[in-house]
Amino acid sequence: MNRYKIVSLVLAVALLAALARLVVGFEQTAPAAGGNAVYENILARKSVRSYTDRPVGRPQLDTLLHAAMAAPSGRDMRPWKFVVVDRRDVLDTLHAHLPKAAMLAEAQAAIVVCGDLTVKDEQGQPSRNWPLDCSAATQNLLLAAESMGLGAVWTGVWPYDDRIAAVRAALQLPDSIVPLNVVPIGYPKGDTRPKEKYNPHNIHYNRW
Ligand SMILES: Cc1cc2nc3c(=O)[nH]c(=O)nc-3n(C[C@H](O)[C@H](O)[C@H](O)COP(=O)(O)O)c2cc1C
Repeated sequence: MNRYKIVSLVLAVALLAALARLVVGFEQTAPAAGGNAVYENILARKSVRSYTDRPVGRPQLDTLLHAAMAAPSGRDMRPWKFVVVDRRDVLDTLHAHLPKAAMLAEAQAAIVVCGDLTVKDEQGQPSRNWPLDCSAATQNLLLAAESMGLGAVWTGVWPYDDRIAAVRAALQLPDSIVPLNVVPIGYPKGDTRPKEKYNPHNIHYNRW
């Protein structure tokens, strides 16, 4: 076999392998997706970190907040508060103190999802579930943003003391309000694709 034939054979095998991966990947995500807008939106969501200068208005932000507050919540305590930041100077102050949220420089707005420790149960105790409830609210918000053609990304604040202190100072939060994250929002600049994360190795049926 000459060198040309060997190269052709290797290329053909690589092409077949790529095709097989595509088919397997499609089968993994395809079954429930067809025509189901909610499912397709969940699979389409991605972190967007670059934005155009198209404004995002309060009606759109309010739509995101409706989605956030529709989230499930332990014992239905809803121990969440949302600080909407749509002033350039406040966005810039947050940006200056949060190196992991550099995208705030381009963002048109941000929503800071916070746990509210003043929300108490029948025993007078604050919710132990607040990070979980606020995470569910954040995911709802991110999915709503995706469905509206907006770009957004969860940038972590809690449980890092320095980031919590920075956000507290920038937004003048009382001690009872704990910022979980900052979600910068804007219209996407460039083409960001969702990652394929489905991995059958993460699944066990009935027993480990
Ligand atoms: C708890 C948490 C903290 C995160 N913190 C940051 C962050 O500080 N900065 C950032 O750019 N992205 C942050 N992300 C976004 C992740 O990097 C992103 O979700 C992950 O890479 C998967 O990509 P995808 O969202 O496009 O699917 C965070 C996500 C979560 C859930």
